[in-house]
Amino acid sequence: MAFSSSLASTALVLLLLNLSFSIDKLAAKHGYTSTHHHRHHSRSSLVTNPRLHQAYLALQAWKHVIYSDPYNFTSNWVGPSVCNYTGVYCTPFPNNTKIQVVAGIDLNHGAIAGFLPNELGLLSDLAILHLNSNRFCGVLPLTLPNLTLLSELDLSNNRFVGPFPYVVLSLPSLQYLDLRYNEFEGPLPPQLFNKNLDAIFVNNNRFTSIIPSNLGTSTASVVVFANNNFGGCLPPSIANFANTLEELLLINTNLSGCLPPEVGYLYKLRVLDVSSNKLVGPIPYSIAGLAHLEQLNFGHNMMTGNVPVGVCVLPNLANFTYSYNFFCEEEGICSNLTAKGTVFDDRRNCLPEKPLQRSKKECDAVLDHPVNCFEHHCGDLY
Ligand SMILES: *[C@@H]1O[C@H](CO)[C@@H](O)[C@H](O)[C@H]1NC(C)=O
Ligand SMILES: *[C@@H]1O[C@H](CO)[C@@H](O)[C@H](O)[C@H]1NC(C)=O
Ligand SMILES: *[C@@H]1O[C@H](CO)[C@@H](O)[C@H](O)[C@H]1NC(C)=O
Ligand SMILES: *[C@@H]1O[C@H](CO)[C@@H](O)[C@H](O)[C@H]1NC(C)=O
Ligand SMILES: *[C@@H]1O[C@H](CO)[C@@H](O)[C@H](O)[C@H]1NC(C)=O
Ligand SMILES: *[C@@H]1O[C@H](CO)[C@@H](O)[C@H](O)[C@H]1NC(C)=O
Ligand SMILES: *[C@@H]1O[C@H](CO)[C@@H](O)[C@H](O)[C@H]1NC(C)=O
Repeated sequence: MAFSSSLASTALVLLLLNLSFSIDKLAAKHGYTSTHHHRHHSRSSLVTNPRLHQAYLALQAWKHVIYSDPYNFTSNWVGPSVCNYTGVYCTPFPNNTKIQVVAGIDLNHGAIAGFLPNELGLLSDLAILHLNSNRFCGVLPLTLPNLTLLSELDLSNNRFVGPFPYVVLSLPSLQYLDLRYNEFEGPLPPQLFNKNLDAIFVNNNRFTSIIPSNLGTSTASVVVFANNNFGGCLPPSIANFANTLEELLLINTNLSGCLPPEVGYLYKLRVLDVSSNKLVGPIPYSIAGLAHLEQLNFGHNMMTGNVPVGVCVLPNLANFTYSYNFFCEEEGICSNLTAKGTVFDDRRNCLPEKPLQRSKKECDAVLDHPVNCFEHHCGDLY
């Protein structure tokens, strides 16, 4: 989360630096219009250039397919001065700083209901499109790849449906993709992980398969898969994220099987959360190699075996949660990490000397059937 907002804000700062520059110019013009005639001239070039005219056509077409706008975001979307529209941000065109172009659209929290029309393809200077918390529905327009500069696409918390929107894979400058809280379904395409993306948020949809085993190296540093219905095992190909991945969130994704030792190859990981799944088997010892790990959550699974001391001594580990599993031994300092400054939660396991554990009956039912991770079947994913 911290990452996404910092990435978003870096781009926004750049945009806003330019914006505040143009806002200053506008304010100056506003103050001086009656006495400084030449400023009038530059203002009229600001409202009539062909790129802004294209944007005008796009925004008017968009307004036509908006059928509910309870906070009146688009009620001032009238006339050719698109840079004055609520939620529309202009910057000077890099090749000709005398003209303005539409570089950002931010309609976050608008509760706007409607569609995204094909004419959005006319917004060819757009770098940022933020539509978080609206009621846009349907599918994404196939003209989207015309937005060759688009680097941030946030469609989170809307009502988009259908399979993964392949069209986003054709956006050449995309770095930040946020599709969370929609109703997309079906598999995630392998190409998603081969694109040059920094952040991928697909949580809270209805996606049904995680990472294809044949992907190349991903460049994402944050990947949030949580709250989907992937099922099956976490594939060993997760190792292909090793060079960049810092946060991996797989909460409540219906994962089963054992965690693959390849999780321990993700040497940059700071956050690993696989809680609320159906994982079985032991904690892979390879996790002891994740020197940057700060947050580790195995809670609410069916994992067994020892809590390895190699994990407990990780230097940056601030919070280690493994409650609601079937662990039966905490090695060495794992039994009390408080002195080391690590918050830990070992409730509801099968730890003989600890309070708040499962009953012997519950423990025996699971521990009498040990899991062999090498023989465990994971559906189609392996
Ligand atoms: C939006 O505009 C309509 C009509 O002008 C007005 O009745 C309504 O109160 C406005 N809503 C808000 C949230 O400003
Ligand atoms: C755009 O907004 C500015 C500042 O509110 C205002 O001075 C200007 O008249 C507006 N331009 C048009 C064409 O509406
Ligand atoms: C801007 O100028 C560069 C180099 O002069 C050119 O390659 C590029 O196509 C221009 N971009 C646009 C959008 O006109
Ligand atoms: C793509 O953008 C160009 C301007 O860069 C515009 O002329 C063209 O109509 C756009 N195409 C679509 C399909 O929107
Ligand atoms: C979870 O995944 C399994 C396949 O591993 C599937 O059979 C099951 O239906 C899924 N659970 C839910 C609640 O959909
Ligand atoms: C530790 O992590 C758990 C699981 O994510 C969380 O519920 C808890 O609030 C965290 N504790 C602290 C002190 O950060
Ligand atoms: C863990 O150690 C701390 C001091 O480091 C102590 O206060 C605490 O009671 C211990 N907890 C348990 C469960 O032994």
